[in-house]
Amino acid sequence: MCGIVGYIGHREAYPIVLKGLKRLEYRGYDSAGIAIYDGKEIQLCKTKGKVVDLEQKIKEETPTSGTLAIGHTRWATHGIPNDINSHPHYSNSGNLVIIHNGIIENYDSIKKELIKRGYHFHSDTDTEVLVNLIEDVIKKEKVKLGKAVQIALNQVVGAYAIVVFDKAKPNELVVAKLGSPLAIGLGENEFFVASDASPFIEYTNNAIYLEDEEMAVIRRHKGVKIRKIKDDSLVEPYIQELQLNLEQIEKGGFDHFMMKEIYEQPSAIKDTFRGRLLADQGIIKVGGLEDHIQKFVNANRIVIVGCGTSWHAGLVAEYIFEDLARIPVEVEYASEFRYRNPIITEKDVVIAISQSGETADTLAAIKLAKSKGAFVYGVCNVVGSTISRETHSGTYTHAGPEIGVASTKAFTTQITVLTLIALKLASVKGTISFRDYNIYLRELDLIPKRVEIALKSNDHIKSIAKIFKDAKNFLYLGRGYNFPVALEGALKLKEISYIHAEGYPAAEMKHGPIALIDEEMPVVVIAVNSNHYDKVVSNIQEIKSRKGIIIAVVTKGDTTVRNMADYVIEVPETPESLTPLVTTIPLQLLSYHIAVLLDRNVDQPRNLAKSVTVE
Ligand code: F6R
Repeated sequence: MCGIVGYIGHREAYPIVLKGLKRLEYRGYDSAGIAIYDGKEIQLCKTKGKVVDLEQKIKEETPTSGTLAIGHTRWATHGIPNDINSHPHYSNSGNLVIIHNGIIENYDSIKKELIKRGYHFHSDTDTEVLVNLIEDVIKKEKVKLGKAVQIALNQVVGAYAIVVFDKAKPNELVVAKLGSPLAIGLGENEFFVASDASPFIEYTNNAIYLEDEEMAVIRRHKGVKIRKIKDDSLVEPYIQELQLNLEQIEKGGFDHFMMKEIYEQPSAIKDTFRGRLLADQGIIKVGGLEDHIQKFVNANRIVIVGCGTSWHAGLVAEYIFEDLARIPVEVEYASEFRYRNPIITEKDVVIAISQSGETADTLAAIKLAKSKGAFVYGVCNVVGSTISRETHSGTYTHAGPEIGVASTKAFTTQITVLTLIALKLASVKGTISFRDYNIYLRELDLIPKRVEIALKSNDHIKSIAKIFKDAKNFLYLGRGYNFPVALEGALKLKEISYIHAEGYPAAEMKHGPIALIDEEMPVVVIAVNSNHYDKVVSNIQEIKSRKGIIIAVVTKGDTTVRNMADYVIEVPETPESLTPLVTTIPLQLLSYHIAVLLDRNVDQPRNLAKSVTVE
């Protein structure tokens, strides 16, 4: 987690780094700091709180002139969020300054050794240990900063993306990466470094994404030199041309990124279809899949791994893969999969789902599956992310940057990609009739329109949110394809409103959760037309007879549930297996409005971060 930004060039560095930190704040936001260097003095300011708090503090007390700066927005791992633990950190001499994203696991033993050698520490962080270790190497080995960073990193265990500079070297930044992302933006005699490309997108479209165990020395007038940390070999930089534009990472008139991203879903799904779904011609073409289709077709089973919302998308995929392509599927939390001893063989295909492409547990699950010989396929949103590079092949969701911490358009576009894959496999395997296949294609093509229609209930949903904003608990129920949607609805509410919510398969209710139901308990039931409709109606009756309050998501024109429910939200008629793409929308909106009414920080809920690169 944590966001890091750095600049070295000919412009004033502070505004660039400050703006970059604001863009990266989704990665962590319990404290922030900046160090600015004008070639003579280092100005360092840091504080607990958000980047705006830092900005205010700097206004009051810190000169900002200088053409080199590094900045950090933190999500605490070692040491509570406070001013002292915030980054950047100085080395004992005051000559080195560092920012770090990740965890140094053996920091304690290194710290003890350094204390014996006379070093002292102000913070509780592993980062301050690392910067002093680098300083110690400079002194002991009489080497320059770049070499010292390399030697020090060969002694540490853990994960890092670091940026460090030395007061004695005003024209140099040293960066390194293992397990946490780091991009270098290349301008004309100026260089940017950041956790993702958003801080420098208005300055350059050319970027280098460092690979794990690589470091770079960036010199103001001489450019970038990349080496392998382990064996010191030089690496030929691969310069990527970025597709991102500025508009995509701004709020575009919405109060929050989350709302912007909810409303972007029709276009995000269209973007996910682009070039892949040719409904008129009866064609599905999924780039990353075409060359590997036989691996899927011949697989014993598909194992899907992911975390949080991505895991929910995996659950939806389980239904659709088994339903259409008749391939057995198991869905696992990446964090559980990686720590048990899963039976995986070269006859398995593992699909890893991740919006950020950086989630540590998902990445570890991928490595484990690869080590057991499985073919690993990624479904990621962030282009060039670690997971997209680590997998054998994969498909991007093309949802565009998702900045709100609560995942919305990533979820629906993940389901979109997985549905395309399932349909493609079904047609290759012959488990779907020609007629049904073509019907599906046409129905899929209509999904963006249906999502647009679902969004029209926004005002109505807002009025429901006003009624329930003070509820202490919520229950979300769904069956079949809409069971994962119930889980996702509950997760959205929990994470942004801090109201306790549970998602359950509706039929499981009578095995426990029914005991929770009373006149205080709002129960959100997904009761759209499906094979389970009658059963869901029975579940609603069971809730009603225990005085529960029903908020039902129904198919347009429904009368049965309307007569029973306290509140209904309509979505357009959709084939059952595609309903998650539309039933999710009202649940996202309900959580959003409740959170706004409760004055929560919707885009940056407490304790969360967008990209969970710690284990
Ligand atoms: C919930 C949410 C998280 C993520 C999870 C996995 O709204 O955003 O649960 O889904 O942290 O993240 P990715 O998909 O980036 O691997």
